[in-house]
Amino acid sequence: MPKIAITGKGGVGKTTLAALLAHVYAEEGRTVLAIDADPAASLAFSLGFPAELAAQITPIAEMDELIFERTGAQRGATGGYFRLNPRVDDIPDRFSALHRDIRLLRLGTVKMGGAGCICPESALLRNLVTHLLVARDEVVILDMEAGIEHLGRGTAQAVDAFLIVVEPNRRSLSTAMQIHKLATDIGVHRVYLVGNKVGDGDRAFLEEQSNGIPIAGLLPVDERVNEADRAGIPVFDAAPRLVECARQIAQVIG
Ligand SMILES: Nc1ncnc2c1ncn2[C@@H]1O[C@H](COP(=O)(O)OP(=O)(O)O)[C@@H](O)[C@H]1O
Ligand SMILES: [Mg+2]
Repeated sequence: MPKIAITGKGGVGKTTLAALLAHVYAEEGRTVLAIDADPAASLAFSLGFPAELAAQITPIAEMDELIFERTGAQRGATGGYFRLNPRVDDIPDRFSALHRDIRLLRLGTVKMGGAGCICPESALLRNLVTHLLVARDEVVILDMEAGIEHLGRGTAQAVDAFLIVVEPNRRSLSTAMQIHKLATDIGVHRVYLVGNKVGDGDRAFLEEQSNGIPIAGLLPVDERVNEADRAGIPVFDAAPRLVECARQIAQVIG
């Protein structure tokens, strides 16, 4: 039951890949939990969640009552004592929604008070991510932003495949190399690149620029991704060619 984290520069195709992989594992009959950990939440769209259902999924970071209850933090108080290890095991099932055999949970954004700030929201989210990666017996796919915000030293080891999505250009590769450094610094192993929006001549460029990071797979440019978005249908229904590529990536990462 692989735990997969997906990152990369904004707009490279993280969410598209997350949705495709979620579908590939669900198709195999596995239980799949997809987690939208990007503040620019859009995974529900790529998974084709109906708007009413998507609207029912409140990001965990916005659940003030839950955060106060679980951490014991005092309302309106800054500083003060709160539990760093709040209970989280019931959260995934209670606050997620299921569509097309894929369960979706949204983390939302923690408003950071400063570098290294530990506030009740971040304590809850951090503990939740650890729980999702370590204790859940299902495929977990984390759609993250361009960084490793939600992973700490304790959780890094639990990630079975850390996918950095790149487009065939220097900007996204440069971001990828920064992310790669941060990830290896905290002990993430099994880092892969995934090339997206790749054309015929781009494979050689990516291989040349990969800095030795293995490439788990490539996805071609496919207009159907945007067509699916406009039509409000899952990307995996609209773009069978990309589903096939995602199957190959799933094979590589196990
Ligand atoms: N293989 C592809 N072919 C064509 N368009 C794509 C492809 N992958 C992603 N896109 C488009 O690129 C944009 C960004 O994709 P998205 O998955 O939301 O990226 P991210 O999550 O990294 O910000 C979207 O408009 C999406 O439709
Ligand atoms: Mg995204």
